[in-house]
Amino acid sequence: MTAPVLLDVRDLVVTYVSDAGAVRAVDGVSFAVHAGETVALVGESGCGKTSVAFALMRVMAPGARIGAGSRITFDGADLLALDERAMCDLRGRKISMIFQEPASALNPVMKVGAQVAEVALLHGERSKRAAWDRAVAMLDRTGIADAARRAHQYPHELSGGMRQRVLIAMALMMRPALVIADEPTSALDVTVQAQILDLLRDLQRETGMAVLFITHDFGVVAELCSRAMVMRAGRIVEDAPVDRIFHAPADPYTAELLRAVPRLTADR
Ligand SMILES: Nc1ncnc2c1ncn2[C@@H]1O[C@H](COP(=O)(O)OP(=O)(O)OP(=O)(O)O)[C@@H](O)[C@H]1O
Ligand SMILES: [Mg+2]
Repeated sequence: MTAPVLLDVRDLVVTYVSDAGAVRAVDGVSFAVHAGETVALVGESGCGKTSVAFALMRVMAPGARIGAGSRITFDGADLLALDERAMCDLRGRKISMIFQEPASALNPVMKVGAQVAEVALLHGERSKRAAWDRAVAMLDRTGIADAARRAHQYPHELSGGMRQRVLIAMALMMRPALVIADEPTSALDVTVQAQILDLLRDLQRETGMAVLFITHDFGVVAELCSRAMVMRAGRIVEDAPVDRIFHAPADPYTAELLRAVPRLTADR
């Protein structure tokens, strides 16, 4: 891999503190993502994947703490040293995130076109009209038929798959260098899942963005990603090219996860 390192995470620790005590959800995770690379962060439910993503976006749940020795460098900048204003400028413009639940990630009382346009307005577009036109073009690019009319609709008037396309339009509006996709298809039915994955792959090729793809589905990993990082109980136990992971997993836990995917193991 000759592309420069875009994101460098060192010794990331995320702890949730409550009256009941502290849970170390991320326990010293280190990895890098190169420009233009599609990398999977894979592991079973509760292993800490979303906690990593939220730390990268610096959107922390109440009680969540990033450990003092953690370092996150993005595009040469020390992300954990940025103030909230600088972070707001970065979020959506250079790093963006696509969430698991399109329904709850959208504002129910705002037209979807306005929600996409708002991303442009937040990041320097002065003309509302131009922002709206850019939003419609982006909605069209994500495969929403009749985008100019759909832009005037509210989230509840759209199907789940269309809502996820709206979220993808929002995430990609500013052509970020890195998109974090956190189980972007798990709330959708299987045929729609395949369409959304195709869309993400096409957009990745077209824009050259890096994608950190969070999933527990090795089928998705095989289709989309060149490298996978396997996470277990807050740690990365394996980080290797996808081919190698499928043919010769180095970690027993990875092998165990792969055995849980009958279709893939039967093929090989
Ligand atoms: N807001 C929170 N408060 C307390 N504990 C939390 C919070 N969010 C997550 N956790 C705990 O941190 C651990 C990691 O959770 P996280 O959501 O990062 O896992 P995940 O790998 O994304 O799981 P899933 O595949 O189910 O989305 C879990 O033990 C979870 O219970
Ligand atoms: Mg999660």
